[in-house]
Amino acid sequence: MKGIILAGGAGSRLHPLTKVTSKQLLPVYDKPMIYYPMETLIEGGIKEILVISDPHNIGNFVRLLGSGKDFGIKISYEVQDKPEGIAQAFIIGENFIGDDNVTLILGDNLFVGDGDFLRDAIMTFNSGGRVFAKQVKDPNRYGVVEFDSKKNVISIEEKPANPKSDFAVTGLYIYDNSVVTKAKNLKPSARGELEITDINNLYLKAGNLDVKIYENYWLDTGTFDSLLEAGNKIYQLRKK
Ligand code: DAU
Repeated sequence: MKGIILAGGAGSRLHPLTKVTSKQLLPVYDKPMIYYPMETLIEGGIKEILVISDPHNIGNFVRLLGSGKDFGIKISYEVQDKPEGIAQAFIIGENFIGDDNVTLILGDNLFVGDGDFLRDAIMTFNSGGRVFAKQVKDPNRYGVVEFDSKKNVISIEEKPANPKSDFAVTGLYIYDNSVVTKAKNLKPSARGELEITDINNLYLKAGNLDVKIYENYWLDTGTFDSLLEAGNKIYQLRKK
């Protein structure tokens, strides 16, 4: 299993904090944000990680994380020239992925306090796709899961105006090697991006998407409030 951390993007929702630096380098209590998704991958037993960021910030990630030796892993780096979609990570990372399976985590997603659950989910993965859904108050900010009356997942919609449930798809995605071909065959969405939700729907249609309900603490730190909330949560956990 290889791991990818996607840590680019414009970060414009957090200006001026992100005017001269990357969102994923901002502090979350006592560490830069990217440490948290990186630790999630390491806890999942992943030893080779590719960090993808934009041309302006990639050098800072190299300065921060280096070869990965300090963390007991090997880290490689690739540049995403423009933020053309989360699913582009599999095209940029094609050589790195090789013939392996891959876990992608968004560099601004924090999964806190449930290492065992995610570790098992990564370690027991065999084939298809596996994603994690979390009940949230504001589902229209996310990819949203639609269930039928028997709680089977029937679709995932990206940022729907009228969400069909309050279960958001989190930014941790585990896929078999076919994700590379799937990503290469995607067409950009109306907003011009290769959508991760389209990848998930391809697996779903093929009957190969395992949607696990995640019950622990998860935060996408894309807003000022969620960034502060994440810092406070880590502070509370450290003080326990
Ligand atoms: O956080 C989970 C959500 O992440 C999912 O529920 C959605 O289905 C998924 O589309 C995504 O939604 P966001 O609105 O959070 O996506 P955003 O464009 O903010 O990108 C997420 C992170 O990935 C962010 O840290 C920037 C980075 N990124 C994004 C894109 C589109 C890149 O590095 N390159 C990109 O091309």
